Amino acid sequence: MLVLGVESSCDETGVAIYDDKLGLRAHALHTQIPIHAQYGGVVPELAGRDHIKRVVPLIRKVTADANVTLSDLDAIAYTAGPGLIGALLVGAMEARALAFALNIPAIPVHHMEGHLLAPMLESEPPSFPFVALLVSGGHTMLIKVSAPGSYEILGESVDDAAGEAFDKTAKLLGLPYPGGPKLEALANEGGDSSAYHFPRPMIDRPNLDFSFAGLKTSVLNAVNKSKEAGTYEQDRANIAKCFEDAVADTLVHKCERALKQAQMNTLVVAGGVSANSAIRSALTDLMALRHGRVFFARREFCTDNGAMIALAGMMRFKAGQYGNLEVNVHPRWPLATLAPLPESAIPEACQACSERQGA
Ligand code: KG4
Ligand code: ZN
Repeated sequence: MLVLGVESSCDETGVAIYDDKLGLRAHALHTQIPIHAQYGGVVPELAGRDHIKRVVPLIRKVTADANVTLSDLDAIAYTAGPGLIGALLVGAMEARALAFALNIPAIPVHHMEGHLLAPMLESEPPSFPFVALLVSGGHTMLIKVSAPGSYEILGESVDDAAGEAFDKTAKLLGLPYPGGPKLEALANEGGDSSAYHFPRPMIDRPNLDFSFAGLKTSVLNAVNKSKEAGTYEQDRANIAKCFEDAVADTLVHKCERALKQAQMNTLVVAGGVSANSAIRSALTDLMALRHGRVFFARREFCTDNGAMIALAGMMRFKAGQYGNLEVNVHPRWPLATLAPLPESAIPEACQACSERQGA
C-alpha cells in the first residue's frame, strides 16, 4: 500500500510517499525561507502563492524518485490543520482533486499528529504507550499517548510556544528569520552557560503548563544592559546559550513530572524545536538518568515535512478513516478530538523495526 502525503500548513511545501511494508520511499521539500526572510516572519498570502507553484512539481519528483506512477497510489493524505488557512487550502485542494481523479481516498491529517508520529520514520521507532513532548513554532504540549491516536493533553504553553520564544529571542539578538536554528548556531559560537541565569518559567508550579513570554523579557533586559555596558558583541553568544539552557531546563523539568504523572518511562520528542542539539542532549541525559528511552526524528523530520504527513495518513488510511468529498481545513483543530486508531493501523514497516529492536 502506498500513500502520498502533502504538507502545506506554513512555509514549507513537503511531499512524500510512504509504503506500508517498506516505509518511506521518497520525500521532497521546498522551503520558503528566502521569500519570508525579508519580512522577518511568514507572510501568509505569499506562503499560499508559493505552495501553488511548488506542489505539483514536488509530486512529480517524489513519484519519479520512488519509481511509481500516480495510478500505483492507494490514498492521498494532506495536512488539514492546524495552520494558515490559505496555505492549508493549497495542499488540501490539490490532494482532494488528485484523489478524486484517481478514484482513491483523500485523508485529512492533523499536522501535530504528523509531528508526533515522525520518530516512527526512524529505524528504531518508539512503541506505544509514551509521553510526547511537542515543541514547534505554534505549539508546546505534553501529551499522554496511551495508544495510537489517543491523545490526552497533560499541559501546554499558556503564552508563547517554545519555537516562538526562540524566534522572538533571535530577533532581539538581531538574527534573521527563521530564528531558532540561527540562535542555536550563535549559542554554539562559544556561548558560556555560566554568563547569565535566566528564569526557568513555571518549574515550581505543580502543573504541566509552560510559559515562555517572561523569559523573553529577561533576555531583553540582558541585551539592553549589555549594550549600555558596551559589551554586547561579546555577550550575544552567551545570551543565546543561556536562553537555550533555560528552555532546555524547563522542558526537562516538565517532562520528568509528566512521565511520573503518567507512570511511563518512554519519551517521544517532536516538532521543529526538537532539532535543537542542546535540547536533544538535555532530554537524552534525563532519560539516561531515569533508565528510560527517548525518541526523536532525524533533524530534517523535526521541522515541517511531507514524510510525517504520509506516515500519519497511512495510519488513518489503514484504520479506514477517510475524508469525504469536501475540502475541509481547520486553522484551529484540537489534537485531543482525533479518533483513536487500532494497533493494526501501525505500518508493517514500523512493526518490523520494533521486532528487530526487541530481538
Ligand atoms: O514544527 P515546525 O517546523 O513548524 C510548526 O509546526 O510550527 O517548527 C518551527 C519552529 C520555529 O519556531 C523554529 O525556529 C524552531 O521550530 N526551530 C528551532 C530549531 N530548528 C527549528 N528552534 C531551536 N533550535 C533549532 N535548531
Ligand atoms: Zn510543524
